[in-house]
Amino acid sequence: MRVLVTGGAGFIGSTLVDRLLEEDDEVDVVDNLSSGSRLNIASAQSRSNACQFYELDIRSSEFDELVNDRRPEIIYHLAAQVSVAVSVREPLMDAELNVLGSLHVLDAARFSGVKKVVFAASGGTLYGDVPRSELPIAEGRPHSSSSPYGLAKRVVCDYLRLYQELYGLEYAAMALANVYGPRQDPHGEAGVVAIFARRLIAGSPVTINGDGLQTRDFVHVNDVVEAFVRAAKKSSSSIFNIGTGIQTSVNDLYAALASQVDGASPATHGPARTGDVEASALDSTLARDVLGWVPKVDLGEGVGSVLAFERQRT
Ligand SMILES: NC(=O)c1ccc[n+]([C@@H]2O[C@H](COP(=O)([O-])OP(=O)(O)OC[C@H]3O[C@@H](n4cnc5c(N)ncnc54)[C@H](O)[C@@H]3O)[C@@H](O)[C@H]2O)c1
Repeated sequence: MRVLVTGGAGFIGSTLVDRLLEEDDEVDVVDNLSSGSRLNIASAQSRSNACQFYELDIRSSEFDELVNDRRPEIIYHLAAQVSVAVSVREPLMDAELNVLGSLHVLDAARFSGVKKVVFAASGGTLYGDVPRSELPIAEGRPHSSSSPYGLAKRVVCDYLRLYQELYGLEYAAMALANVYGPRQDPHGEAGVVAIFARRLIAGSPVTINGDGLQTRDFVHVNDVVEAFVRAAKKSSSSIFNIGTGIQTSVNDLYAALASQVDGASPATHGPARTGDVEASALDSTLARDVLGWVPKVDLGEGVGSVLAFERQRT
């Protein structure tokens, strides 16, 4: 199958490219390298000539031409401005890329006979701040984004539904929890795993924001890309929560990492970050029932993969 991955030189996108090549897909990678890196896809390109890289912006006319020329069956759309904090500072820039850029991808898809778009939505920001007693969150919960980033992702989910109704373009919107794993950028949504790993390996002190009792649903990137591949193969159109359903506190995350590093010191605590949600976890029952997907990588194994990657980088 010929497929195209936007944002394919990024953390999740490049891991997806590796996974798609295992499926024997022909993979076109589009990325403007604003936060991604050629290094992330270097091994995919050296292993297989089924992987072509195009340094392009998804909003450019060259992108439309490429989609029209290559006529992929599936577009995996991951290119985005990924920082919640940046979206709060620059909502217009965020919308230009995350809303209009996404619409550009959807239009290119509908005019080129693409069958399905699989979109990286954000479960961590789609539903807003939900009381701990109501976690994990199921897909039926009303959307209530509290950042421009979350709102932009939500709007694209609405456009996907509308494009399906108006033009018959199938979609899967993957509402991701906090994704972590090798190649992760420390500035992303689950960047805390990469930050802690780097500091622990360097023997530098680690400061946890606030009391560390805030929780997140950390889902490993290998599990996430498996869900993307499965969603592409289904002909239904849905939003899927992709998380473990498990709340892990930042203190427990640190302990999981520190237990795998010789001589690690206890973390200290600094002021809490304003605007952070207190707790989050996603219920992925729909992905289990429809896609047969369950997360397989537990936290110990997952943080081990990050430590191994960071050790070999230094
Ligand atoms: N990491 C997470 O925990 C998480 C959680 C929820 C959703 N997501 C979503 O998953 C997707 C991938 O995130 P990531 O963590 O891999 O981040 P990333 O920054 O590593 O990947 C984004 C990629 O998009 C590229 N890009 C940005 N603007 C572009 C443009 N105009 N044209 C072409 N390419 C462009 C970047 O260069 C980068 O390679 C994003 O859509 C993000 O919003 C991530």
